[in-house]
Amino acid sequence: MTENNENTNVQKSAPDRKPVIFSGVQPSGNLTIGNYLGAIKGWTDLQHENDCIFCVVDMHAITVRQDPSELRRHTYELLALYLAAGIDPEKCILFVQSHVPGHAQLSWVLGCYTMFGELSRMTQFKDKSKKNADNINAGLFTYPVLMAADILLYMTDLVPVGQDQKQHIEIARTIAGRFNGVYGDVFKIPEGFIPKTGAKIMSLSDPEKKMSKSDSDFGSVRILDSRDDIIRKFKKAVTDSDTVVRYAQGKSGINNLMNIYSCFTGKSLEQIEHEFSGQGYGAFKLAVGETVADALAPLQSEYHRIVSDKQYLEGIMKSGADSAGRIAARTLRKVYKKIGFVV
Ligand code: TRP
Repeated sequence: MTENNENTNVQKSAPDRKPVIFSGVQPSGNLTIGNYLGAIKGWTDLQHENDCIFCVVDMHAITVRQDPSELRRHTYELLALYLAAGIDPEKCILFVQSHVPGHAQLSWVLGCYTMFGELSRMTQFKDKSKKNADNINAGLFTYPVLMAADILLYMTDLVPVGQDQKQHIEIARTIAGRFNGVYGDVFKIPEGFIPKTGAKIMSLSDPEKKMSKSDSDFGSVRILDSRDDIIRKFKKAVTDSDTVVRYAQGKSGINNLMNIYSCFTGKSLEQIEHEFSGQGYGAFKLAVGETVADALAPLQSEYHRIVSDKQYLEGIMKSGADSAGRIAARTLRKVYKKIGFVV
């Protein structure tokens, strides 16, 4: 592509450019309702008004040891889940991170504009180092740089993420700002966007801790859990010795259930308090379990239909990688030129 072409492209698309949204989830399997509410569910609402790019971040996943055949399977499964949740491949770019080489390429460059000290202060790095004490690899350390590359490659305006990713957005902004400070306006400075509810779904067995994929069986409700399992898990949810369904300090278990119920029904916390006034925790827990199971049922059946169609999934991956790759290559070329690489 000639330089002139590049310039006219930018000018043509600039005035009616919709905001660009980028986000990703790791294909590490066992996605929970926390991942669903905190990420994927919210994305479906964004796809109408924005240019959305949603990624399966397999390169991030290998910062902890993965079984190769599982990783491959989880990659297909996560894409199927995106689609089953209602993300429309006609409206959004859906792709797998390792299919677009620009992510690794930009990541290297950005690593040279990221400070050792900054990365050392990342709480996720510190947490994961504790959990994987036998494998504190350099990829775990530079994880935020790759994430910055993901975001900055697409001139992203908004990045919807859970609360725990806030620090990663912050460092992406810092890196972009630093790079722009040296070379002029190359990167768009992205904004994090944290959904009000659903941003932090807590474990059902330990409501002081975030619900995680690796939680004990009863702590985390998985998107693909059976109806019986979902209801059983909610029935066992840890609550407190009070008996009134109300949102208050010191009631983290009930607060969490109310939040989950609110996310799935759209009801406000006050409405929920009212709905369950005079009823005990048992009835409330059952109602939450049934509501979640009912809400997930159509998604699950759609998922099972899609996941068995490998050819369809591969088609989506391919066209997603083509579209994403074109944008990424344009950004990378601009970056390479700025830093003085011969392009
Ligand atoms: N770090 C994110 C998480 O674990 C996943 C991720 C990777 C991501 N790259 C991203 C999220 C870019 C948003 C944008 O949840």
